[in-house]
Amino acid sequence: MSTPPSLTGGAGGLLAPAADPLPTHLLPDTARISPEGRLSVGGVDVLELVAELGTPVFVYDEAHLRARCREAVAAWKGGVAYATKAFLCKAMAGLAHEEGMALDVSTGGEMHVALAAGVPARWLVLHGNNKSEEELARALQAGVGRIVVDSFNEIERLGRLVAERAGRPPVRVLARVTPGIEAHTHEYIRTGQEDTKFGFGLASGAAAEAVARLRRLPGVELAGLHAHIGSQVLTTSSFEKAVAVLAEFFLPLDLPELCIGGGLGVPYTAGQEAPSLTEWARAVHGAAHRAGIPEATRLTAEPGRAIVAGAAITCYTVGTIKELTGVRTYVAVDGGMSDNPRPVLYGSGYETFLPRATDAPRPLRATVVGKHCESGDVIVRRAALPSDLAVGDVLATPVTGAYGHSMASTYNKVPRPPVVFVSNGRARVVVRRETCDDLLLLDQ
Ligand code: LLP
Repeated sequence: MSTPPSLTGGAGGLLAPAADPLPTHLLPDTARISPEGRLSVGGVDVLELVAELGTPVFVYDEAHLRARCREAVAAWKGGVAYATKAFLCKAMAGLAHEEGMALDVSTGGEMHVALAAGVPARWLVLHGNNKSEEELARALQAGVGRIVVDSFNEIERLGRLVAERAGRPPVRVLARVTPGIEAHTHEYIRTGQEDTKFGFGLASGAAAEAVARLRRLPGVELAGLHAHIGSQVLTTSSFEKAVAVLAEFFLPLDLPELCIGGGLGVPYTAGQEAPSLTEWARAVHGAAHRAGIPEATRLTAEPGRAIVAGAAITCYTVGTIKELTGVRTYVAVDGGMSDNPRPVLYGSGYETFLPRATDAPRPLRATVVGKHCESGDVIVRRAALPSDLAVGDVLATPVTGAYGHSMASTYNKVPRPPVVFVSNGRARVVVRRETCDDLLLLDQ
């Protein structure tokens, strides 16, 4: 339909020859565009919502979230956990649980929020490469469904803790192994290779040693293996390769469960494509079958991004437009790297559009920046926008449902935006806007 926008910048403020409107598949499932071009999501007019709640704001399509959870549960035959690090608040934890997903929590903090949302502990899977004794003790006391063991130090800690609770039912664990696969993704979010802080290496023999120690530990039941090769992976072949490598180690162990982790990518910009949750699960099941993994084995997964990314848009207000003649046009909005650090951290690309003219051609090239005190505070390096863009316009970025709110900070003491779920013509604020007084809450 259109070519992906370049991330390399270049002269801006120009009317570019390619002026394609926003590709609508990047919008949430229930997005509708009125004949005048106005966007609604979940039956709620986005500009009216913004007029009421202000900007910046994360707007999530609840039907989209539910549809992805259901798709994942069906594709993985119930053996699927939502990776809460992608986006977590009580409403999201409750929604994923209602739809039949377990929840992957990677810290005591995520575990706390999931439990506070009323998710029963046995539906939780505790991760982390450096779990503290307190986190492990809390997990045992709450009765989490699985602990994914990541290091020999953790095995020792776990050993001490289970010894104190002799007579109680065994704790179910998975051993996290690194299959030595280099997934096609950004270096910072690649995790399956040998040189990593996560898990036990297969090649070094650490994985075999961990399995042996866990099997010897009374009070612990080794339920299976876990591997996570990386995030924002856009092809199924990396997962298929991982299954093939893992199978060799997994098969002789005769364990009931193999978890392939998360990592399924999503399209962020025009021209990007990603497998669906169903296609991903099918590819992994196919690879497992080819590798001789028995049908009875519980194949599980823990997607985060693919569940939530496409469900949300972030709305900002344009406050300043600076045209540097022959250089670039800067469009500054009222958020920035504090609500979306991904462009700064990973060079991630996003699209932009105006919810008042959602399907308008976008001939204007500009760099959309935030309000933080850093030149690197860029949201979209080479954004395409309608040529009548003006100060006061609401500008939106789609596909911001994953790792935006969850990685948000209060840098420069910019309060964090609220989160709104929209559905069936109704909007409910599930996380309120942070206030300047909130910024003082921790000061003594
Ligand atoms: N399981 C484990 C053990 C993980 O480490 C992760 C992500 C997931 C599941 C979920 O992965 P997903 O399906 O969301 O790709 N902040 C980065 C992503 C970091 C992912 C870390 N681990 C970003 O914004 O792209």
